[in-house]
Amino acid sequence: MKITTKINLITTAWILCVLIAVNAVVFFSFMKITVNMEDGELFQKADYLINQINKEDSPAVIKEKLTPYLTNHSFIRIVQSNSKIVNQVTNDQQLAAKIKPQFAVEKSTQRRTIRLKHQEEQIAIVRVPIQSNGQVVRTLEFGEKLVGLETGKDLLLSILTFCTILGAVLSLLGGRWLSNLIMKPISNMINTMEDIEQSGVPKKIIIQHETKDELQKLAVTFNRMIGRLEANLEKQRQFISDASHELKTPLTVIKSYADLLLRRGLKNEEVAHDAIESIHSEATRIQKMTERFLDLADTESGNRLEAKSINLVSLCENLFKQIKSAYKREINLHYQKQAISVLADEVKLKQAIIILIDNAIKYSTDTIDVYLTENEQLTIITVKDYGIGIPACEIENIFERFYRVDKARSRETGGTGLGLSIAKNIMKQHHGEIIVKSTEGVGTEVELFLPKQKGKVFE
Ligand SMILES: Nc1ncnc2c1ncn2[C@@H]1O[C@H](COP(=O)(O)OP(=O)(O)OP(=O)(O)O)[C@@H](O)[C@H]1O
Ligand SMILES: [Mg+2]
Repeated sequence: MKITTKINLITTAWILCVLIAVNAVVFFSFMKITVNMEDGELFQKADYLINQINKEDSPAVIKEKLTPYLTNHSFIRIVQSNSKIVNQVTNDQQLAAKIKPQFAVEKSTQRRTIRLKHQEEQIAIVRVPIQSNGQVVRTLEFGEKLVGLETGKDLLLSILTFCTILGAVLSLLGGRWLSNLIMKPISNMINTMEDIEQSGVPKKIIIQHETKDELQKLAVTFNRMIGRLEANLEKQRQFISDASHELKTPLTVIKSYADLLLRRGLKNEEVAHDAIESIHSEATRIQKMTERFLDLADTESGNRLEAKSINLVSLCENLFKQIKSAYKREINLHYQKQAISVLADEVKLKQAIIILIDNAIKYSTDTIDVYLTENEQLTIITVKDYGIGIPACEIENIFERFYRVDKARSRETGGTGLGLSIAKNIMKQHHGEIIVKSTEGVGTEVELFLPKQKGKVFE
């Protein structure tokens, strides 16, 4: 069943229930109030009649006194203690005959339905005791057809039934209008999603009215998500294009040397040696590049970190020992405490430090200083070199993928321009920060900031 139909039916059923309950209360309250009012009037009339009659009045006088108080279809009678009629006046013999006389010592009213001329009729009967010397001697009894109440009751019932039906119809129409109003933006969203599914192209929902309600919020959130998706797709496209471009140069070099080898064969040993060396170096470059691609993809994938408490001092000491022997470069580690612990993914953190050391090695020739410091909130790793430095205007670009300040030099050093992007991603994964300070010709200082609070770092 469609959600609009569901909303429609549920609201209508609910409104119908409410209307029936309200109308029932109205109806029964009206009946109770009217009956009470009528009873009051009847008792008043009975008291008045009793006052009119004197003990000494003959039956004829009594009849004469009572007759003017007969209403249409009624009787007035005086009943003695053995429930026998003493006096009676009536304008409806049939009605009077149907109601048996009854002696009563207390005031009472009674409603009875009797059949008169093939028709059901409501009769009100009132009994009021007539006292003499503090003793109940007789009962004044009178009965009359309840015409007003019956018609009023029927009229009210028809009005209330009409109102209930009208209410139900209006609620059905209103419900349909309301559910269409609610469902329109949702239907829009469904259509847009189906479009996206069919075409495979992310598309935003057109928000026609600024309603500032939950549905608009839903559409805005959806659009934001699509915006993010578009940006990511664009990033991906850009990456593929940049990566292919980067791979093209070494592949061209490899191909041309391979051609050379094919044409000239291994006859000229010197040329062959140069060609093979170049092919080897370019293949190494491609290998390094693909490793970098994989690292970049890994740090961008949003994989969970395997966080644990690491002693930064021993991590750096071990790491630098290996680097020093491989690169034959002086790396000085400075720290205030023997144990500076940090909560991080060891492999990733190592990777980020290696990226910075690798840059320092490539872009300087002097010694490299590494400082490990901490304060209440942060642990800071600073890698400082005294090399070529980075021009101030280039600092904001160096975190972009494939960006290299000096392309020619980077080719020499084998840089792909992805190192700092990867390091930045790693810091982002740790909810940390990376900051570069550099002066051209003087040196570069790169700082890694790692927050200490567990909750903040790895939510
Ligand atoms: N310590 C540094 N001194 C001078 N220039 C630097 C330093 N670190 C980075 N750069 C500049 O920033 C650019 C980007 O650095 P990044 O580490 O991202 O790439 P790369 O070193 O060229 O290549 P990769 O690290 O991927 O092998 C470098 O090409 C270089 O021009
Ligand atoms: Mg680098």
